[in-house]
Amino acid sequence: MADFLSAYSIQNWLESCPQGYLMNTEYGHTADEAEPELLMTNSVLHEETIRTTVQLVVGERCALAASSGLINAAPDEASKRFLATQTLDEARHVEIFTHRLHDLGVKRGDLESMISRYANPNLVKFAELLLEKVDKKDFVAGVVGQNIVLEGMAFSVFEMMHAMDEGINPKFAHTLSGTIADERRHVGFGENRIGSLIKQYPDKKPEVERLQKEMSYYMLATFADAFRGNRAAAEARDIGLERQHAQWQGVDLGAMEPEQMEAVLADTVLKEFKTRLGRIGIEYQTPVRP
Ligand SMILES: [Fe+2]
Ligand SMILES: [Fe+2]
Repeated sequence: MADFLSAYSIQNWLESCPQGYLMNTEYGHTADEAEPELLMTNSVLHEETIRTTVQLVVGERCALAASSGLINAAPDEASKRFLATQTLDEARHVEIFTHRLHDLGVKRGDLESMISRYANPNLVKFAELLLEKVDKKDFVAGVVGQNIVLEGMAFSVFEMMHAMDEGINPKFAHTLSGTIADERRHVGFGENRIGSLIKQYPDKKPEVERLQKEMSYYMLATFADAFRGNRAAAEARDIGLERQHAQWQGVDLGAMEPEQMEAVLADTVLKEFKTRLGRIGIEYQTPVRP
């Protein structure tokens, strides 16, 4: 417990995060970094970047609602304090991705209409399933849904985007690297804290397993919408912006069709779920494939 207490303490958060990898950043990147010119001038790429960033805002708003809601459902003080740090992390993620939308030219007054216009309905459903558990103050289901399913997904999506953006968009890659470091801490908490609770409340298992299966379906449906028939991705390859060689999970994303990238992402996330759920004593449920 001593290790758990120090690893997930506010003190550790201060030293590693705001006083560590976020030092000298402004909205997640350095002050002199900007979006590449081509993203701003090519209308297809510009719209696609807004659409993608909106999904990040939607996901992070859900994480903010979930982590703050779980504070009062947590059975112990150490978890409450960790979730308070996570709440600030998630609020920061909402802020930096919202700020990116403004950098992309979205006016403050248009923000909410832009978000409702582009938010993927499957991602919205994914978020609702989790927030139902949080609203019921169901800590075990809430933490598995948030810190394993939602954040396991976010972690891999951010990593994939980071691999694709590293060579062409240092500003966004830098923004992502800070969030990836945050998500790694959040996923670690989920695994460490929930394992013992699952042992304590084994009757929670079927419900948690059902939640994982349902959330996974809506996650895969979100991926399908994002990749299949993605005109912008094809166009980007022609322009050569997005399609530089980008190694991730042992493959070159730059040489793949959108459908192949979807498959790599889906397989990576589901494999992660299986491993992490196995460690906490939950049996991974194979979702229906959209
Ligand atoms: Fe987040
Ligand atoms: Fe997170």
